[in-house]
Formats: sequence, structure tokens, C-alpha cells
Amino acid sequence: MGDKGKANKVIVGCSGSTDFAKKLASKAGCRFIVLDTRKFPDGETNLRFTTGVKGKVVYLVQSLYNPNDKLIEVFFAAKTAKELGAKGVFLVAPYLSYMRQDKRFRPYEAISSRAMAYILNGLIDGIITIDPHLHRYKSLSEIFTIKAKALTADDLIADYVKKNIKHPIIIGPDMESYQWARTVAEKIGCEVDVLKKKRYTPEHVTIKIKEKLDLKNKSVVLIDDIISTGHTMIEVIRDIKRIGGKRIYCICVHALFVEGAYEKIRRMGANVVSCNTTPHKSNRIDVSGMVGREI
Ligand code: R5P
Repeated sequence: MGDKGKANKVIVGCSGSTDFAKKLASKAGCRFIVLDTRKFPDGETNLRFTTGVKGKVVYLVQSLYNPNDKLIEVFFAAKTAKELGAKGVFLVAPYLSYMRQDKRFRPYEAISSRAMAYILNGLIDGIITIDPHLHRYKSLSEIFTIKAKALTADDLIADYVKKNIKHPIIIGPDMESYQWARTVAEKIGCEVDVLKKKRYTPEHVTIKIKEKLDLKNKSVVLIDDIISTGHTMIEVIRDIKRIGGKRIYCICVHALFVEGAYEKIRRMGANVVSCNTTPHKSNRIDVSGMVGREI
């Protein structure tokens, strides 16, 4: 991208991703501006751009953990940027929420991912995200009609493991994690196993581990896209310990860690590593450079 192209692009830090947006702007060599947001006492969102965006290509940066208020902010900011004359409006959502709600699990239920995408399709010109939870959808184009780019942190996770963890065996806690676990293991050239998980409720999961897994002198590296309540990881850690696993690492792309999940996992003696798609103290893997190259 030439200097003119860069000058035409602005990176806007929304409330959930100010630090990430700053990093991204510096990696992409574009101007950073902060979105001024506030809440009225009744909960309504108020926002303003801190500079004009006429003729600019605007990248709203908003990671969608705890998504509802953050999504409203994106909807309002996107509409406002267009009204103010922006030439294009893109959303950089390092973590894209609602993707696990990808079918009607109960009769008459909302397919929330589809509803969210429907609204975004009408407001923005494109979206860039990292490792969206693609399970029943094979690609983002099944719900987005705008340009939708899914990046993956696989390479960065593999680099982290190579540099920091000796004698790894990669384990994916469920079939959905296979895509990350297998790819990372292939890049490192190490053993991989994927377990079978059954989820009864958000808080109740059971996972089957193979008793014959040889974990002697191995570092067990559990890889998943999301750690939310932590129950998936907790179940696996318990079983790994039972069959003799000693050094355990939990690596995820998106560190949601609700309901004290991080502390619970740490108390079990496992190390936790995440990418900085959401701000969290376990962030060790910086994905901003990878996103910067897309801008
Ligand atoms: C679901 O299939 C995902 O890949 C994760 O395994 C899941 O979201 C983890 O959730 P939790 O931490 O609540 O068990």
C-alpha cells in the first residue's frame, strides 16, 4: 500500500478494542482515532467520531466479547461513518460473537449468528475476523453477503508452541477443535489426538479420553478456539491428570473466560495461553501484525 492509500485509511478504536486498534494502526501504518463512547443513565449508547471521516476508508475495530453493547456501538458507528461521508466502512472483529449459535437448537429459536450477520450486511462493506467458530457453516459467506475474511492464528500458535513448549503432544478437546489442533500439530510435526465431547448444558460437558495415550515426558497442549466457561478444558485437564499427564497447557484463540474460568483452570495447575483477540491477562500471542497485513 502506498502512502496515499495509508493516509486514506483510519483505524477506529471502539470501546472493546482500543489497545488492539492502536497496535493495529501502528502495524498497518495508518492513522488511529478513538471512538468517543458513553452511556446514558438509562443504558442507551451515545458515540461520536473524534475527527471527520469524509472520504476515508474507516476500519472500526471491535472485538465482540460480551457482545451486545459492543454490537450496538458497531451498528451506530458504521451508520454514522457513512452519514459523515466515509468512502468505505469495514469491521475488524478479532473475536466474532454469536457464531456458536448456528442452528435452531430448539423449536422457534433465533439463529443468532445469521441475524447478526444480516444487520451487519446492511451497514458495512466488509468484515475481517480471526478464527470464527465455523462449525455448521463451512465459510462466512454462508451468512455474510459483504466481503468477509477469516484469518487464522494457527501459524502464530504453532510458532509459540515451537518456541516455548518442549516435547508437546497436541490434544483437541472436541471434534470442533480438530481444525486447530490438527493444523497446529502438522506445522510443528508432533503427535495429535482429538477427544469426543458431549455438552448437556453450557455448564455440563463430558469428555472421553483414551486411556492408552502415552503422556510420559510429554507436555500436553490442549488447543481450542474459545475458552468460555472453561468446563471443556476443566474436564480434559481432570482426565489428563488421571492418566498421568503432568505438564499441561491450555491454548485458545479467544479468551472469554467467564465465571472465573481462568482462575479455575490455573488452580488445576495448567498454564494458560491466549491470542490477543480479546484483552486478557493470558494474552501471549499477538495477532495484530497478521490483521495489519490485511489492511
Ligand atoms: C465449542 O465447540 C468451542 O469450540 C469450545 O470448545 C467451547 O466454546 C468452549 O466452551 P466452554 O469453555 O464454555 O466449555
